[in-house]
Formats: sequence, structure tokens, C-alpha cells
Amino acid sequence: MPENNNFLSVADTSDIELGHSQSVQIDGIDILICHAEDGFFAVEDLCTHSMIPLCGGQIEGNYIMCPLHGAVFDLTDGSVQSPPAFEDLRTFKLKIDGTSISIDSDSLK
Ligand code: FES
Repeated sequence: MPENNNFLSVADTSDIELGHSQSVQIDGIDILICHAEDGFFAVEDLCTHSMIPLCGGQIEGNYIMCPLHGAVFDLTDGSVQSPPAFEDLRTFKLKIDGTSISIDSDSLK
């Protein structure tokens, strides 16, 4: 399988403490880079309930809680864990090279 060289550097691990997140925009998509218990994860920065940013939502373990109505999503796969949201979050593949966090641009399509 050919190596995918389409990773775009978007953030630095040293800027995002455990339990925090950082929103970045690539190709018009708002992406939230989250530092969770099991590492860094990238999800769309848009709660599927009322389409508001998840940025600022509380991160505990590998879960993020929407700051508006409290829906909970699993950051590892985007799956919704608690209403009022019912649809999963979109997720994006990332890789970490040193302290550089990159997003796979193929996962944006
Ligand atoms: S907007 Fe996120 S739970 Fe309502």
C-alpha cells in the first residue's frame, strides 16, 4: 500500500494540556484536537445536536461533554454516548511526530 503523505500539521502537543482542546480549521472544516486520557483525538468541532462548537466542552477520560446541553461523545470513535444528541461526531485521522500533530487530509473528504 502506498504511503500517505497527505498529513497537514495543525497543532503542537505542548500547547494542549490533558483535558483541554484546540480548534483548528482546515478546508473550511472546524476540527477540535482533544487531549484525552488515551492521547490526542480529532473530531469535528460541531455538536450534532444543535450544531454549535464543542470547543470548551469538558473532557473527562476519553469523553467530551457538549457545553450547551450536555450530550457526551466518545472521542476515540466519535460515538454519541448520551442525549440530547443522537448522531455520532465525525472523526479525523491524526498522527503525532515529535510534538507536531498532523491531520490526514484524506480523512477530510
Ligand atoms: S448543542 Fe450539544 S447537546 Fe445541544
